Amino acid sequence: MPATQVTDDLSLASGWLRAGRLVAFPTETVYGLGVDATNSLAVEQLFIAKGRPADNPLIVHLADLESWPMAARSLSPVARSLLDAFSPGPLTVVVPKLDSISSLVTAGLDSVGLRIPAHQQARELLRRCGKPIAAPSANRSGRPSCTTWQAVLEDMDGRIDGIVRGGTCSVGLESTVVECLTDRPVVLRAGGVTLEQIQQIIPSAISVDQLRDGDSRTKASPGTRHAHYQPNANVALIEDIRELENLNHFEKSQSALAVLHTSPQQLALVGDFAMLAVFDTLESYAQGFYELLREVDRRKLQRVYLQLVQDSLLGTALRDRQLRAAGLSRAAK
Ligand code: TXA
Ligand code: MG
Repeated sequence: MPATQVTDDLSLASGWLRAGRLVAFPTETVYGLGVDATNSLAVEQLFIAKGRPADNPLIVHLADLESWPMAARSLSPVARSLLDAFSPGPLTVVVPKLDSISSLVTAGLDSVGLRIPAHQQARELLRRCGKPIAAPSANRSGRPSCTTWQAVLEDMDGRIDGIVRGGTCSVGLESTVVECLTDRPVVLRAGGVTLEQIQQIIPSAISVDQLRDGDSRTKASPGTRHAHYQPNANVALIEDIRELENLNHFEKSQSALAVLHTSPQQLALVGDFAMLAVFDTLESYAQGFYELLREVDRRKLQRVYLQLVQDSLLGTALRDRQLRAAGLSRAAK
């Protein structure tokens, strides 16, 4: 395939998508790699371009809530309430799939993940396409997701047709995936909408970690079985930066450190790292997280120390990605 074209022209990009090409575009969570969800040949190419396991289904993106009949057979009252509350936005609902959506998109499942992004360019692109667009995160499979168009180009140049040039993603972590097939929603993947926010709308909602072993829905999000979000550098998780006081100068010169709410005095105690990221809020840590991991690799550092965040609010999603970046699943935490 020739070099990937980067464009600002949404009518050009929507034409490519309608013609079965692969086009990355910005959303408020991370960049997505779009393909016509009704075109199986094109979807097959997308799995190849990403190196994605075929058993991991893709999320289908729509321009607005009214378009749901393009992808789903029905919306349960629970799915409808959650979409009303959080769409457009970083929410994906898993609902019964429509036949015209390629079974490659859903990895053979009878359900489909639907999302209406809030990002202005994404919505305009989807509106112009007039088709349901399947879009996984635009990184090579297993790598950290992309929150800038340059990161997409880094992973995908020559493997996809185009990239819509947008800014840095504002949320920085993927959408929350909620299985809405029964009247008790299950959060399969933590993301930009928190469990606490979902429980304000549906108090019985639970996270997949709270299901009893043996419940078939513990297997419901196939994507969570695969390695994810891992940089080449070794990832070490710390609770407190005082754990780093005894590292020697050489180790620090080969390492990056990312911390939350740390005073200059505490930083002075641990000394100089090759790269240092201090985040003031959970939101800014989430937004900068994937780019931090990518920058560590660009600088060919050996190791990144990540200060673990709390397991609540947006911290639940960020902590999940921290554990996965370190090769630990949440279940193994
Ligand atoms: O924010 C996001 O969700 C981004 C942007 C581009 O929209 N997309 C994204 O896609 O993160 P991806 O492919 O990296 O992750 C999709 C997740 C996987 O964990 C997959 O298993 C789950 O959604 N998923 C998709 N369809 C599903 C279904 N029918 N049942 C259960 N899980 C599903
Ligand atoms: Mg992904």
